[in-house]
Amino acid sequence: MTTETAKEPWGRHKKIERNIAVLGVLAFAVVTIGGLVEIAPLFWIDNTIEKVEGVRPYTPLEQAGRDIYVREGCYVCHSQMIRPFRDEVERYGHYSLAAESMYDHPFQWGSKRTGPDLARVGLKYSDEWHVQHLKNPQGVVPESVMPQYAFLAEHDLKIGDPAARLTALYRVGVPYTATDIKKATDDLKSQADPMADNADLQKRYPKAQVRDFDGNPDRLTEMDALVAYLQVLGTMVDVNAPAAQEVLAKEKGR
Ligand code: HEC
Repeated sequence: MTTETAKEPWGRHKKIERNIAVLGVLAFAVVTIGGLVEIAPLFWIDNTIEKVEGVRPYTPLEQAGRDIYVREGCYVCHSQMIRPFRDEVERYGHYSLAAESMYDHPFQWGSKRTGPDLARVGLKYSDEWHVQHLKNPQGVVPESVMPQYAFLAEHDLKIGDPAARLTALYRVGVPYTATDIKKATDDLKSQADPMADNADLQKRYPKAQVRDFDGNPDRLTEMDALVAYLQVLGTMVDVNAPAAQEVLAKEKGR
């Protein structure tokens, strides 16, 4: 029986499997070739993500809100990645594009959804809704298991050194300009100040929403930053633009 199978073409494979040294050397060769084919091209192509119009770095205030989002572990229950499936697209809107999280460090995609996906929650609700909901989710959705974050409205936003924060992000590839970094502290304060002149900020950060976010114009709180962040999610790319619609139509026709 053994000698018979050894004569078959795959008999040679049996020899390899029985010789640990040969098996080891050949397995190493296969993994090396596979690795080179997969990894090497990444060093020569300029970009692995196709750029999409509208995607811009976060403003210092949005970034501060994002840091609070990460600090509070919102990602434990919320993903930010709408998958290209009909049920997801109908519930949350256009599926997420890779470019939409290209300036996220770290990204917030996730696969755990105790709560809904938040990739396109921006401008879905009013600021007041978010403030009420974050203070007491059960007051808005009685069966909600989301924790209460009322303290965010009581905590002044610790401004720290926004220029250093932006510089750190710049070093990992987020294209902040020298002006963005120089004006980081002013930008952070003025975005939530309805009396400030924000024309220059909105020129550098297109579609940036400027207003008091937490309903308390006298104070700059952690709530201001978090709501500013939530309200920008998914609003940078115009998914109703013809190019995006074309992609969506193709997807639906499948
Ligand atoms: C223990 C899990 C949990 C955590 C942690 C959590 N959430 Fe939620 N979240 C939920 C659930 C469940 C819902 C759906 C019910 C509701 O609206 O309260 C929800 C709903 C939401 C909604 C409304 C989404 C929509 O489209 O209706 C927003 C916005 C939100 N959460 C933001 C946050 C933020 C910001 C944080 C962190 C500060 C956070 N959540 C932390 C579970 C969580």
